[in-house]
Amino acid sequence: MSVLFFKRFLKRPFQIASIMPSSQALVERVASKIDFDRARVIAEYGPGEGVHSRALAQRMRPDAQLLLFELDPHFSRDLARQFADDLRVRVINANAATIRSELAQRGIAYCDYIISGIPFSILEIEKKRNLLRQTHDALAPGGAFIIYQVTNELRQHATDFAPDSESEYFLQNIPPMFITVFRKAGELNGNGAIDPAESRFTSNYAR
Ligand SMILES: C[S@@+](CC[C@H](N)C(=O)[O-])C[C@H]1O[C@@H](n2cnc3c(N)ncnc32)[C@H](O)[C@@H]1O
Repeated sequence: MSVLFFKRFLKRPFQIASIMPSSQALVERVASKIDFDRARVIAEYGPGEGVHSRALAQRMRPDAQLLLFELDPHFSRDLARQFADDLRVRVINANAATIRSELAQRGIAYCDYIISGIPFSILEIEKKRNLLRQTHDALAPGGAFIIYQVTNELRQHATDFAPDSESEYFLQNIPPMFITVFRKAGELNGNGAIDPAESRFTSNYAR
């Protein structure tokens, strides 16, 4: 078990909402939902100590970008250290709900995929709906929002997304999780995510 993870859970139990990171089996399963050949911009909400982030970075194209939105400053610092040598990865120590302004600041039009490990089920209803709205608007047409959650209640709120969401109950994790893929209507072409006129590498997490 990750010591940092457990310490942060003790400090902020409702924000971290789990005593241990995702299992390697869950990480592999979530990654299998992504077409890495087409993914130019991936965002991850609530990476924690980075178990999914490392798998995403290993599979990503050399010209892809990974934006990590993590509220907890200790996790953010540790992620910045882990990815210090990988210029494709930026750590953003902020609420995931700020995604659209963070994309705009970096000259990025859309994300192709957004992965979420944040505990949606314990968010107040208005925060939940706002985050879903921001997520939908931040995705490219044909892009996907992939979540793993203890409950599957988010489905009833994700009304902006195409109605054919796929969901599975994945047992090889403690606790078992629903993995759900919500798609934004349209066709993912893998070319529209970055505005080439504005795309630039800005500094990672402020150190
Ligand atoms: C259950 S942990 C998941 C950690 C990791 N993704 C994993 O699978 O092991 C939830 C993480 O989401 C972060 N978090 C919670 N709400 C957030 C928000 N609104 N924006 C960004 N991160 C958030 C927490 O700080 C915590 O690191």
